Amino acid sequence: MTTKRVYIETVGCQMNLLDSEMVVASLRKNGYELTVDPQDADALLFNTCSVRQLAEEKTYSSLGRIKRTKQQHPEKVVGVMGCMAQKDQQLVFERAPYVDLIVGPGQLHRIPELIESVRQGEGRQVAVSMGRRDGSLDQIKRTHETFDPLRDPTMRPTPFQAYLRIQIGCDKFCTYCIVPMTRGPEQGRPPQQIVDEAQILADQGCKEITLLGQTVNSYRHHDGSQETDLASLLEQLHEIDGIERLKFVTNYPKDMTVRLLETIRDLRKVSPYLHAPLQSGSDAVLQRMKRGYTVTEYREMMARISHHLPDATVSSDFIVGFCGETEDEFQQTVELVKECRFKNSFIFKYSERPGTKAADRIPDDVPYEVKQRRNNELLAIQDAISEEDNLDLLGRTFGVLVEGPSKKAKKRGDVGPLVQVTGRTRCDRIVVFQGNLRQVGHILPVAIYDASSHTLFGEVVTDHVGPELFTLNS
Ligand code: 5AD
Ligand code: SF4
Repeated sequence: MTTKRVYIETVGCQMNLLDSEMVVASLRKNGYELTVDPQDADALLFNTCSVRQLAEEKTYSSLGRIKRTKQQHPEKVVGVMGCMAQKDQQLVFERAPYVDLIVGPGQLHRIPELIESVRQGEGRQVAVSMGRRDGSLDQIKRTHETFDPLRDPTMRPTPFQAYLRIQIGCDKFCTYCIVPMTRGPEQGRPPQQIVDEAQILADQGCKEITLLGQTVNSYRHHDGSQETDLASLLEQLHEIDGIERLKFVTNYPKDMTVRLLETIRDLRKVSPYLHAPLQSGSDAVLQRMKRGYTVTEYREMMARISHHLPDATVSSDFIVGFCGETEDEFQQTVELVKECRFKNSFIFKYSERPGTKAADRIPDDVPYEVKQRRNNELLAIQDAISEEDNLDLLGRTFGVLVEGPSKKAKKRGDVGPLVQVTGRTRCDRIVVFQGNLRQVGHILPVAIYDASSHTLFGEVVTDHVGPELFTLNS
């Protein structure tokens, strides 16, 4: 088998990063090597996101950049995969006629075979899942296959950290969101498959696993009378030697049960870090978004978290300028951000997505400038809170999993071994300190001496005597 090369560009969420890892792993099995140079590639893949218009534009500009290469080398196979492939299907060919291959997120297992078909001169190939109104639930589910065959440590930011999918799809149908259409019905993977995959990761030297699901804490799997939820899955994964940290994203606020919180409290490897997007602090907006909870219910969730997990950190997502959002409704979001004191928040300007209920029924009537101003205002408030809360951590010592050279060290081209390194606490706080590349992959005690809104600055404590590092604070 002659070696072929694949180039892959990924935009979007962690689920997409994982999908790219899986696709590269399966192509490796079919004789491909990874290349970072599109000129050098036999197959060029673009893993796409449809959550906001901007993400789609990004892919089209990437495609624009390789147009000439494809014209000069028509034998190179250009593929568009992921959510935009599923959502736009043939439309992608209209905007970028030099694309050969369109593959939705539920059909990724077919990529090696489809690339081969294009190479054999069989013309354009399209593999997508059924739409949510195109058949029975069972039929639709069958066309959205989870794709978790192999792992490729070289595709991960570090070999000792990995994502592990436990659930695909989403059944919540928030009115602004395209994901239930592109990734299909919610389906929990069988627990045994998940445990087996975690064991493979542990055998590869992986220490930290982040479980992925669109609404990860809604995870359920039925096998006869046996029901597994996220809490019992965490209990099973906790038993695996070598795995030292377990995280999970993204949480759906309504499904944050006491049982789950107690499980997190009792399992030392599970991070008390909860990403639980609030989206808006106004009941009227939440209702228009069909988020399925009220502000009071979200507050109750926060109270449950601080009662059972006083050291937990919570982070959130917000959409500003959603259809009809008034100044007063936005101010309610501001107030709630101040009240909840999230570790950090991701803030997005509403982007109308054709195919969603909001696009069909509610006008996108907040002007762009207003969205931008609200975005800036909310971000400034959140940053000030993050900085204040981070400054409270000065003098404390955390267990930090060292990931690699810091951004600054990379930019300066520092080669080490003594360089500035970056890592994370079990509550997902970023810590930068003067270290040694030999420390990468280890969990070390780091004392914090300074902080900004997004970063803690520390020093390794060399004579640390104390509890095991995974349990070192948050
Ligand atoms: N416009 C802007 N932001 C969106 N999100 C989801 N759909 C949209 C949209 N149409 C945001 C939500 C979600 C995050 C992943 O992306 O905040 O939690
Ligand atoms: Fe989208 Fe809502 Fe599902 Fe999250 S819960 S993926 S925002 S529909």
